[in-house]
Amino acid sequence: MSNFKKREDFIPYNVPDITDAEINEVVDTLKSGWIAKGPRTNRFEKEFAAYLGAKHAVAVNSCTAALHVALMTQDIGPGDEVITTPMTFASTANTILHTGATPVFADIDYRTGCIDPEEIEQKITPKTKAIVPVHYSGQVCDLDRIYDIADQHGLFVSEDAAHALWSRYKGRLIGNKLPGAACYSFYATKNLCTGDGGMLVTDDDKIDAKARILVGQGMSHNAWNRYAKGGTWKYDIAEPGFKYNMFDLQAALGLVQLSRMEEMQAARLQIAARYQEAFGKIDALDPPFVPDYATHCWHLYVLRIVPELLTIDRDQFIVELNERNVGTSVHFIPVHYMSAYKNRFGYQESDFPMTQKHFERIISLPLYPTMTDEQVNYVIAAVTDIVEKFHK
Ligand SMILES: Cc1ncc(COP(=O)(O)O)c(C=O)c1O
Repeated sequence: MSNFKKREDFIPYNVPDITDAEINEVVDTLKSGWIAKGPRTNRFEKEFAAYLGAKHAVAVNSCTAALHVALMTQDIGPGDEVITTPMTFASTANTILHTGATPVFADIDYRTGCIDPEEIEQKITPKTKAIVPVHYSGQVCDLDRIYDIADQHGLFVSEDAAHALWSRYKGRLIGNKLPGAACYSFYATKNLCTGDGGMLVTDDDKIDAKARILVGQGMSHNAWNRYAKGGTWKYDIAEPGFKYNMFDLQAALGLVQLSRMEEMQAARLQIAARYQEAFGKIDALDPPFVPDYATHCWHLYVLRIVPELLTIDRDQFIVELNERNVGTSVHFIPVHYMSAYKNRFGYQESDFPMTQKHFERIISLPLYPTMTDEQVNYVIAAVTDIVEKFHK
């Protein structure tokens, strides 16, 4: 039996890793006289593209914006279908609806939590225009299979890489040598965070040019061009775009976070390895499986319980963790469970059986670079204690 001892203070599910370097860069930006989109955003775009080995990076105010604009660059709209996964945050599917197209869900591969290429193939119709695979939790989708299907059917691929900065497929960074686009999130919990923010990455000059126009209201010149010495006050609206651009206070955080990426990842990898080792030995737990083709960036640590071996379900497991002062989350309540989608498309929760089974078992545990060894040990001890207490 474990001699578990409850701690006094709560371990939050997530804490952003912000050092004096980020704080100083934000202060320098505030003092610089330019806080809107300008030199730091431009530099962050260049450094981010260089980091991934991509040709273009367009900085935006969220991954949601990037996902929307990526589809808009292909003129996807009413009458079109876009295939994605229900095991994602709603914005992946919402942005398909925002274009006027219809999201079509394909079930996940239960081993990885990512969209199953076989399921994609079954969902293709003459109306299908694109696939939006999600690199769920930092795990990577089976991209060779997905791009084969896309090539065969002439489909655009926009990778939802919100979780996948630093992840690799067959050794190559996600975002490197893209036929289409990849969309990143810099929301507060992400591996690189700017509070809110995102990036659309592409090697395609046309996608880059169109995305730049769309994210800046459709304007031919942005404010930095207009207000700089020698700039012109004249501009045209090439098409009605969106107010989606990043601005320099966000980019200030992004530049420093990008320079700290390897150090932050080293800490994440170490914590994930500790969890994998500890939970791999417990029969009532099902730790994440990482296929040979994947290098996981461990944005999330999604632990599955094995309810058949426990007297409590996932919801009660979370209550027990909370009582032991461990913060958790669930990624995700599937999109087809949401009333907006149920009401509009008539979904049943059982429509995607692998997604449903996965959802009923998952708990996201704390994993962030500033976690101490003592906190990691405590989370392992708390999970182990619950399994011992409630094992059948
Ligand atoms: C898989 C996935 N896609 C897209 C998004 C949207 O990202 P953002 O909040 O930057 O718009 C999220 C947000 O967490 C996400 O988890």
